[in-house]
Amino acid sequence: MATNRTFTMLKPDATAAGNTGKIIDRMIDAGFAIKAMKWTQLSKTQAEAFYSVHAERPFYGELVEYMTSGPVVAMILEKDDAVASFRELIGATNPAEAAPGTIRADFAESISANAVHGSDSDDNALIEGRFYFSEREEA
Ligand code: RTP
Ligand code: MG
Repeated sequence: MATNRTFTMLKPDATAAGNTGKIIDRMIDAGFAIKAMKWTQLSKTQAEAFYSVHAERPFYGELVEYMTSGPVVAMILEKDDAVASFRELIGATNPAEAAPGTIRADFAESISANAVHGSDSDDNALIEGRFYFSEREEA
């Protein structure tokens, strides 16, 4: 079922650099409504579970280590065509390849420390949102 919601996390580089407010403003200015939000930190077990789809990838260990290195901000966002629209707003995974004006072009440090996560499908947006939020916590 298609939905108009997506899930995002501001990653540890974004929280450490004090960029959370600026990045959230970009999302609101682009027309996304915040439906749930939580400042928290992932344990190793939680990060492994969240990224289990990447378990066989060579960067999995580095990814889990990085994502547990500091706080994250998890959010459920709403907009028409939310998943695709949000990935356009954040830009390519590698900030060196991200289009000018995208969040990753402006705030990411590297392919690992790339400021934000964005769901890649409606199905994953629902799964990832439920990883952090109960139905009651979603506006
Ligand atoms: P995300 O899931 O965080 O929104 O990023 P994405 O879809 O653009 O990229 P994905 O392929 O899902 O990879 C998840 C995260 O793993 C890290 N990564 N490192 N060292 C590497 O080659 C490499 N490739 C990916 C990135 O932090 C990426 O966001
Ligand atoms: Mg991804």
